[in-house]
Amino acid sequence: MIRLRGVEIADLDALFAIDRECFRPGIAYSRVELRYYLSHPRSVSILAEDDATQTIAGFAIANTYLEKGSPVGHIITIDVRSANRRWGLGRMLMDAILAQLSAAGTAVVRLEVAVDNAVAQAFYQGLGFGQTGRIRGYYMGTLDALVMEKRLNP
Ligand SMILES: CC(C)(COP(=O)(O)OP(=O)(O)OC[C@H]1O[C@@H](n2cnc3c(N)ncnc32)[C@H](O)[C@@H]1OP(=O)(O)O)[C@@H](O)C(=O)NCCC(=O)NCCS
Repeated sequence: MIRLRGVEIADLDALFAIDRECFRPGIAYSRVELRYYLSHPRSVSILAEDDATQTIAGFAIANTYLEKGSPVGHIITIDVRSANRRWGLGRMLMDAILAQLSAAGTAVVRLEVAVDNAVAQAFYQGLGFGQTGRIRGYYMGTLDALVMEKRLNP
């Protein structure tokens, strides 16, 4: 059975390995970056663990920042191991993260996704995110990102 639980700093090595499985070099986070995002005071995170094997199947990290005095949520990453995809885990993780962001008073959530990542774009569209912009060379200076946004219900 899969259960959601909070991320602990002891999970860092496992999350680092999953991120490298999910993203190519240049897009995957370094260990230092992941540690920074996990320990940041305005970050929220969640992971999905297989109870039977106690292995992590996926995780999500977000943070909040102030824009014109209002908290905005920012999805840092969501990673589901390839063997565990299409089980609904991505949606479970995002629902949990969006609930945490909403509880923190966030009305808008933003993210960036690579223009060539059609699966993630379809995933986010299904969750109610819509494209609001494009950032040239966001990844590695050469690959554009789409900016996507979702308004949360109060
Ligand atoms: C994007 C990702 C997190 C989705 O995780 P997942 O657990 O497979 O997603 P779910 O099973 O919850 O799927 C939810 C919905 O997303 C969409 N979706 C997911 N995978 C899809 C695919 N391969 N093709 C088309 N739509 C897809 C579908 O609408 C799906 O609903 P459905 O299964 O009822 O049709 C996962 O593919 C992943 O980790 N990819 C690599 C990392 C990545 O790109 N992260 C996003 C970075 S911006």
